[in-house]
Amino acid sequence: MATYIAFEGGEGSGKSTQAQVLADRLGAVLTREPGATALGAKLRALLLDPGEAPVSPRAETLLMAADRAQHMHEVVEPALTAGRHVVSDRSVFSSLAYQGGGRQLGVDAVWRVNDWALDGRWPDVVVFLDIDPADASGRLERALDRLEQEGDAFHQRVWAAYRELATETRRWVTVPAAGSIESVAAAVWAAVEPRLT
Ligand code: TMP
Repeated sequence: MATYIAFEGGEGSGKSTQAQVLADRLGAVLTREPGATALGAKLRALLLDPGEAPVSPRAETLLMAADRAQHMHEVVEPALTAGRHVVSDRSVFSSLAYQGGGRQLGVDAVWRVNDWALDGRWPDVVVFLDIDPADASGRLERALDRLEQEGDAFHQRVWAAYRELATETRRWVTVPAAGSIESVAAAVWAAVEPRLT
């Protein structure tokens, strides 16, 4: 058996670093959304590059879901079928938080579109790296992409949506993101290891 593990959190939560550390420790396939396939790289640029044409909230949702459908087909499902654990830096739950919460389309509507895109194969374990966006914004040192440039109210709605989703503790584990890379990695391992299949 193999486990599909997703890292979730706001901008600057350290999830890319933690996804890498966990994938190394597990010998897992490390991947990400959006942008892990050839199609996805094009979609990621259309969605996030500040110079691209405007994208409406519903179009944004569908393009994120298209990236995800391709990612499932090309990367995630083949790896799981081959018996490899998969660690993904973001997943379908980013759409629930950002498009459902941040863009205010509603978590249920975004859930339905994505359930179809995924053909029902949702992550088995979700690690939520929890940090107040007001504390995390200082951690981003590179140029900001289109979603990172959204205002404080948007990022507070995303955070609120994550916290609500994370109350479902069968699949979700919440790890406070403040702390050293090593201490957060230790907390992630303690939460994930018992859930591996
Ligand atoms: P990243 O560089 O952390 O992967 O960020 C990609 C950006 O895209 C980030 O602002 C979150 C956003 N995003 C969504 O809005 N919906 C999604 O479904 C995904 C996967 C990412």
